[in-house]
Amino acid sequence: MKVLLVGGGGREHAIAWAVKKSPRCEKLYAAPGNAGIAELAECVDISVMDADSLVSFAKEKEIDFCIVAPDDPLAAGVADAFLDAGIKTFGPRKNAAIIEASKAFSKDLMKKYNIPCAASETFDDADKALDYLKTLEAPYVLKADGLALGKGVLICMTFEEAEAGIKEIMVDKKFGDAGDRVVIEEFMTGREVSVLCFSDGKTILPMTSAQDHKRAGDGDTGLNTGGMGTFSPSPFYTDEIAKFCEENVYQRTISAMASEGREFKGVLFCGLMLTEKGPRVLEFNARFGDPEAQVVIPRMKNDMLDVMEACVDGTLDKINLEFDDGAAVCVMLASDGYPVSYKKGFEITGLEKFDEDQGYFAFHSGTKFAEKEELVNGMVSKKKVVVTNGGRVLGVTARGANLKEARANAYKATEWVSFENKYMRNDIGKAIDDE
Ligand code: AMP
Ligand code: GLY
Repeated sequence: MKVLLVGGGGREHAIAWAVKKSPRCEKLYAAPGNAGIAELAECVDISVMDADSLVSFAKEKEIDFCIVAPDDPLAAGVADAFLDAGIKTFGPRKNAAIIEASKAFSKDLMKKYNIPCAASETFDDADKALDYLKTLEAPYVLKADGLALGKGVLICMTFEEAEAGIKEIMVDKKFGDAGDRVVIEEFMTGREVSVLCFSDGKTILPMTSAQDHKRAGDGDTGLNTGGMGTFSPSPFYTDEIAKFCEENVYQRTISAMASEGREFKGVLFCGLMLTEKGPRVLEFNARFGDPEAQVVIPRMKNDMLDVMEACVDGTLDKINLEFDDGAAVCVMLASDGYPVSYKKGFEITGLEKFDEDQGYFAFHSGTKFAEKEELVNGMVSKKKVVVTNGGRVLGVTARGANLKEARANAYKATEWVSFENKYMRNDIGKAIDDE
């Protein structure tokens, strides 16, 4: 099969690695890809949002199978564009990707179909939102309705903070149109777990669990980011909890979407909080999580193309999804200053030390190639190097027999990589050792 993967982050690098391993993959293209994906795929410089150019490219290269991995193109209907052109495509249509693209939609769906989640109200008027806030007690949870790079959720400890938050989201439009509506939600406490599920619209198969660390600083301090590291599996996601979620969350959600005429084919990411009252949905995403994909995919035993094709064909009931018994930990190497402001363009060294057969991966998030001039025998020669090109730079993933070993391996591997302004959290998966 000739495959086109749309996306260019760490999640797409992990997907590319799995797709390339499939004996059925003859040729892999990535749009736009990145310096790591370029080792596995031919990268083409087309934006993930440019549906017309993506479809033309797919037709020209006679692509058999497309994978749309990131949230923005899914929400904008890029999977629809491929499907409507008659190309087999993994990833939900726009009318189903709305489960991530609108928090107001997903809350309405959960309420209507009795899927366990935090109590909430949605507002499109800042004054009404403030009146409602006055009836609640701190802490307050405010969520911009639309996509905001994982940063549109504010947890406010005082009323004044919440008042300022409503202004930021709805009046100052800090997140643009994503803030036209705001969801105000009951504050919950508990362990967080991410469960990514393959779905063909009727059958849903949960993958192994994972946990993300969303805050920028050690000890879950600082600003929310796109994710600073993950581990898999989560020891807190017991068989009993899994069984509850399979019945009350995953299957119910997929059936609800089908009943609404919004057949969901692709990966449904369920962000859960394990509260004292039982598991509750924090959010749904319409794609693999990033960096959850970097710990879940390396543990998957199945052929990725077989599973993805079954999602598109509606034959997921024939697949026996399997994961290894070990564990994986991903530590995100970021540019110091992320998620606010940071410098990029620094050379990255040490990548050659990673051996996937030994269970070590350097998944590229924000990298690109650059040319560097060097003096060789007194002559100037140009060399291609990999440089930093984003806030999140590399997801250093390691496997291990258990979480403790995977964690030690991942932190060892972070030392192999050098670049100026390298920043990481030092406590990814640490809670596991302490428990
Ligand atoms: P979300 O993008 O909706 O998953 O929210 C981002 C993060 O905010 C979550 O991972 C939680 O840590 C936190 N959060 C979201 N909703 C709530 C809530 N209702 N109660 C407590 N924390 C929450
Ligand atoms: N790691 C959270 C996300 O992908 O949204």
